Amino acid sequence: MSEIAKIELDGKTFEFPVIEGTENEKAIDISKLRDATGYITLDPGYKNTGATKSSITYLDGEKGILHYRGYSIEQLAEKASFIEVAYLLIYGNLPTQTELDIFTNNITKHTLVHEDMKQFFEAYPAKAHPMGVLASMVCSLSTFYPESLDPNRSPEAKDLTILRLLAKLPTLAAWSYKNAMRHPFMYPKNDLNYCSNFLHMMFAMPTEDYTVDPVVSNALNKLLILHADHEQNCSTSTVRIVGSSQANLYASISAGISALWGPLHGGANQAVIEMLEQIHADGGDVDKWVTKAKDKEDPFRLMGFGHRVYKNFDPRATIIKKACDDVLEKMGINDPMLEIAKKLEKVALEDEYFKSRNLYPNVDFYSGIIYRALGIPTEMFTVMFAIGRLPGWIAQWKEMTENNEPIGRPRQIYTGATPREYVSIEKR
Ligand code: SDX
Repeated sequence: MSEIAKIELDGKTFEFPVIEGTENEKAIDISKLRDATGYITLDPGYKNTGATKSSITYLDGEKGILHYRGYSIEQLAEKASFIEVAYLLIYGNLPTQTELDIFTNNITKHTLVHEDMKQFFEAYPAKAHPMGVLASMVCSLSTFYPESLDPNRSPEAKDLTILRLLAKLPTLAAWSYKNAMRHPFMYPKNDLNYCSNFLHMMFAMPTEDYTVDPVVSNALNKLLILHADHEQNCSTSTVRIVGSSQANLYASISAGISALWGPLHGGANQAVIEMLEQIHADGGDVDKWVTKAKDKEDPFRLMGFGHRVYKNFDPRATIIKKACDDVLEKMGINDPMLEIAKKLEKVALEDEYFKSRNLYPNVDFYSGIIYRALGIPTEMFTVMFAIGRLPGWIAQWKEMTENNEPIGRPRQIYTGATPREYVSIEKR
């Protein structure tokens, strides 16, 4: 017998079904609430509101658990390739060797970007933030592939659009960096894997041979896996709601890139490094900055700390912190920002303000330090997050379109002026 939720309103009792997920999460299904009671619910930031049912990613914020299609993030980060994880998220199961080979080859053959798009890059100023370039370039892909404009055209057309986007995003990202550097664009190389191809397009120059360091490529593979999906976060919810209007995949992902840019979300990884550099330049007094973060009168926040869902360690931060030590040791790098980050973490985790609010390092706290070690410039950090999150966004968009979910359209409680008569300007 499934549970029932009862709500008492205006002397009447209303009953609503309780639904339970495969990991025993429970929700009150209020989809008939307004029709039955005339009331809506109010939940700014959707902190208590489920927007959908999904079979892609499960996370438990209290226990610090994160699973993609049932597989733990720890196992996938240790054993899988990013393209394997992309397949898992989008199609639901780990690929066989044949399926992985076909998927990889199909992505490889779509890595080139239409030559006409190079003119778009040249129109941007050198100081253009790469997230702004990437969001517009991704949406512009829809103008070169008009068959993508109808997301429900056919399963084959949907798969081709998915492959094109997975293949071209690293090229667009690397070219946004080369454009900012006013360096010549490097074309994809079909004999390199996904991560090595991106690094080659980022750092190779036509004037000399460039060999990708396997330590760097492997570290990038792990980082992209850790960012690949995270259920209904801000940017994924943006992708879903834009896609719910039957906008095409390119437009939906472009909106997700824009949402990710914010410093409270994916932009935090850039903000963390800028914060650490500020603390370093200020003499490294972490106690002073932790005090500032606690001061309600001070707008300063400890970037990379806190999370809407994780009220325990973000399991991704734990993995990235260890990878930080490994990568910097292998590369013989001694980055003072890592020492400051560790001191900051220690002081904050012992402080009642942070403990009482369950504020722990999140995925963004250490990721920037690895990106720096890999030679990725700070303004490209959130672009790296977008490359990692792309398969998750695609999987969530695909699930939403295949489940024929309704267009997203929240309600509101109006608090503005009550009806009044128009007054001519002379009488105002
Ligand atoms: C990502 O949702 C996802 O899954 C996102 C993500 C993903 O993979 O998609 O995990 C990626 O976006 C990670 C988060 C990156 N952002 C940051 O690191 C920015 C710094 N963090 C905060 O701005 C904040 O913690 C948020 C935005 C992450 C979460 O904000 P919430 O859930 O709305 O919590 P809140 O702002 O209501 O904070 C609760 C309390 C407040 O104090 P009180 O009102 O109780 O006195 O905690 C305080 C906040 O002032 N607080 C902080 C803090 N974060 C929260 N105080 C100082 N420093 C911080 N970082």
